[in-house]
Order: sequence, then structure tokens, then C-alpha cells
Amino acid sequence: MSTAGSAKSVLKTGVKRLLGRAGFDIVRSTNSRGGVDDFIPFEATMRAARAAGLSVGDYVDEVMNGTPGATQSTIDELRALGVFAANPGTVLEIGPGSGRYLEKTLKECSPDRYEIYETARPWADHLVDTYKVVARPTEGSSLAPTPDASIDLVQAHKVFNTVTFLCASRYYFEMARVTRPGGRIIFDVMTENCLDPATMRTWATKGGAGHGSYPATMPRQTCVDLFATLGCSLEAGFLAPMGVASTEVLVFKKSA
Ligand SMILES: C[S@@+](CC[C@H](N)C(=O)[O-])C[C@H]1O[C@@H](n2cnc3c(N)ncnc32)[C@H](O)[C@@H]1O
Repeated sequence: MSTAGSAKSVLKTGVKRLLGRAGFDIVRSTNSRGGVDDFIPFEATMRAARAAGLSVGDYVDEVMNGTPGATQSTIDELRALGVFAANPGTVLEIGPGSGRYLEKTLKECSPDRYEIYETARPWADHLVDTYKVVARPTEGSSLAPTPDASIDLVQAHKVFNTVTFLCASRYYFEMARVTRPGGRIIFDVMTENCLDPATMRTWATKGGAGHGSYPATMPRQTCVDLFATLGCSLEAGFLAPMGVASTEVLVFKKSA
């Protein structure tokens, strides 16, 4: 192995050892209400990404989660579905964290406004400084500062498999409220499509300690039925890597 390769491997082993939970080392965010509001430490992660010669997004994918290219593959699927070709003028993201999906979304489209709702304050500040997004006050599961029907693309990645059932459910209603007719709602959840018996065994044997509400499941049909009552129909679903297995990304469109 090359020196760079072995340094990366040592770093990876060290980081993995540190990670107690969802492939993420955890820091308590400023307005934390318990385990699920926590996220990886800002300074240490930025330093480690720099040391590994990776963007923070690629570092999270590659080193922390052991799923290189995972973020890009989801973005590629969304592009193929025409999500970015629709030229969303306003985007809202819940729980962007390090900004790995945000960064790649902004390579695909140029919204006039990109709002974020993020409980981990250092990461929210970093995203505001780096990408000029608008950080909204984040309390529980409310998108109250965002007006009704004002957003073209609402997204959340790797958030609803880490929060409680109530938190996710309340956010779903809010997501439907803020989405413009013709707009899209995209999020991933650990549905029954991600939980065949072999995968259950993988979770049981290799899933680690978990924490609080992680990993959380959500029936696919429950989402489909709920969003149908909110005027949003399912356009597509596809699997994306998450932890030792996967989540299912659901793409909804609000009727025009
Ligand atoms: C597992 S991380 C995923 C981060 C990022 N989307 C990614 O895929 O790398 C979950 C994110 O949701 C944030 N979060 C937790 N509870 C939240 C809440 N109630 N509202 C908004 N964000 C929340 C965390 O701070 C963290 O950034």
C-alpha cells in the first residue's frame, strides 16, 4: 500500500473507532432536544477531511460512512428523473448537515433562494457562509418561517431514518404545505423495501449500537397514502446506501 493509502487507512480506522453510532461521530447541537438533534463535530470533521484531501461531502461518504459515491448516485438518479431540469427557483432542505447533498444540488441547478432547517448550528453557519443559503430558525418539526406553496423543491436526505416517528410525521405535513403546486418533495426513509430478511440479519449483526431513534423505519405505503391526501403523488422510488444497508428515496410531485 502507498504511504498516502496507508495514511488514509489509518485515518479511516481511527475515525471508525471513534464513531459510536450511525457512521457519524456525534456532537450536541446548540438547540438539541436529545440524541437525534446531534451531528458530527464541525471542526474535527473539517480538519479530517482536509487531512484526507477530500471535500467534506466526499469525506462523509467515503471515510465516515464507507459508501463512496453514495451522494452522487442519488443526485444522478434525481437528475435522470428530471428533478433539476425543472429549474427549481426555490429549494428547501431539512437537515443538510455537512451539506453533501446541498453542494451537489447547487451543481445541478441555480435556485434564487435555498433555505435550510438545521439543528446543528456550526454546520448551518458553515453552509450559510459557504453557499449563501438562508438558515431558518429550526424548532422541532416546524417550517413555520416558510410561507405556504413557496418552494419548488423540498428535500431531506438521511434525516427521517434518524428522527422519531412524530418528528418525521410532522415534517411531512409541513413539507406538503410549503411546496408549490407542480413542485417536488424528496426524502428517504427505511421502508419495507430496505428490510428483507437478509438485511434484517445484517442490521442485527453489523448495525452497531444505534442511538435514540436511529435507525428508524417508516412504511412506504404510509408515506404514499399520506402524501396522496396532501395532493402529492409518488413519481419514483429507488434505494440508496445507508449504514450497513439502505434507505428508499421517495420522489413526490404536488399536483399543479
Ligand atoms: C444523519 S444526519 C444527515 C445529514 C445530511 N443530510 C447528510 O446526509 O449527510 C441528520 C441531520 O439532521 C439534522 N437534524 C436532526 N434533527 C433535526 C430537526 N428536527 N430538524 C432539522 N434538522 C435536524 C442533524 O443535525 C443532521 O444534520
